[in-house]
Amino acid sequence: MQADKIAHYFDLTDKVIVVTGGSRGLGFEMCRAFAQSGATVVISSRKAESCQRAAELIEQETGQTCLPVACHVGDWDACDAMVEKVYEQYDRIDVLVNNAGMSPRYESPAAVSRELFDKVIGVNLAGPFRLSATVGEQMARGRGGSIINVSSIAAVAPSASELPYAAAKAGLNNLTEGLAHTFGPKVRCNGIMPGAFMTDISTAWTEEVKNALSALVPLGRAGQPEEIVGAALYLASDASRYTNGAIIKVDGGTAFGN
Ligand SMILES: NC(=O)c1ccc[n+]([C@@H]2O[C@H](COP(=O)([O-])OP(=O)(O)OC[C@H]3O[C@@H](n4cnc5c(N)ncnc54)[C@H](OP(=O)(O)O)[C@@H]3O)[C@@H](O)[C@H]2O)c1
Repeated sequence: MQADKIAHYFDLTDKVIVVTGGSRGLGFEMCRAFAQSGATVVISSRKAESCQRAAELIEQETGQTCLPVACHVGDWDACDAMVEKVYEQYDRIDVLVNNAGMSPRYESPAAVSRELFDKVIGVNLAGPFRLSATVGEQMARGRGGSIINVSSIAAVAPSASELPYAAAKAGLNNLTEGLAHTFGPKVRCNGIMPGAFMTDISTAWTEEVKNALSALVPLGRAGQPEEIVGAALYLASDASRYTNGAIIKVDGGTAFGN
C-alpha cells in the first residue's frame, strides 16, 4: 500500500473533535496529537483558564484552531450547554472523547459518603452517557462520527482503594459496547482502557506503589502521557472505520491477577 494512502487513514483534517478533560494529562496529549493531525479541537475541563492555556499552547505549536470550553461533565446542563456551543460554532462534532475522570482517595469503603459515590459515578459514567447520547444522536443524523470512552484497567481489575471508580469505569466499558449498537451504521463507539500513566495522579505514588508497578508491568514502568496517543489517533480516524465496540487496553501488558 502506498505511504500517502496510509497517512491518509490517520488524517484528521477538517474534523471537529471534543475532548473532555483535555486541559492536562492524557486528554491534553490527545488534543495535541489531534491538532497535529489537522483537527480543530475543543478542549474542555472544569477550569476555563486551564482550557484557555492548553488551547493557546496547542494553537502555537500546531497552527490549528482550538476552542476552550469549560464544562463539569458531572453536570448534565453544563454538558448540554457545551454541545450547543460547539454546534453553534462548527455545526458538527466528528469525534467525541469522553476522557475526563476522577478517582478520589478514601479511608475505607464505609467512609465513602453517598455524595462522593454519586460524584464519582457522575463524572466517570453519567457524564459520558449524557454527552454520548446527545452528540451520538446528532452525529447519526449528520455525517456520522466516532465516540471514544476512556475507562481504566480498574474496570476489569478493581483494587480495594478505588471501588466506586472501578465500578463506574466498568459501567463505562459496558456503555461503550452498548453505544456501538445504538447509533450505527454511521457512528462508531470504542474505548481505551489505560493502565498506570505518569499524569498528575502519579505525583501521589509512593516508592512502594512505583515498585509494585514495575513488578506488575512487563514493560517495567508506567506509561508516559503521550503513549496514549496511538490508540486515540487510530480510534478517531478512518484507520478504524471497521472497528466498533472495541476496548483497547493500553497498559504495558499489566499482569493484574496473574
Ligand atoms: N493516569 C492514569 O494512570 C490513568 C489510569 C487509568 C485510567 N485513567 C483515566 O484516563 C483519563 C485521564 O486521566 P489523567 O490521568 O490524564 O487525568 P488528570 O491528569 O487528572 O487530568 C484530568 C483532566 O480531567 C479534567 N477534569 C477533572 N474532573 C472533571 C470534571 N468533573 N469535568 C470535566 N473535566 C474534569 C481535569 O481538568 P480540570 O481540573 O480543569 O477539570 C483534567 O483536564 C481519566 O478518565 C482517568 O480515569 C488514567
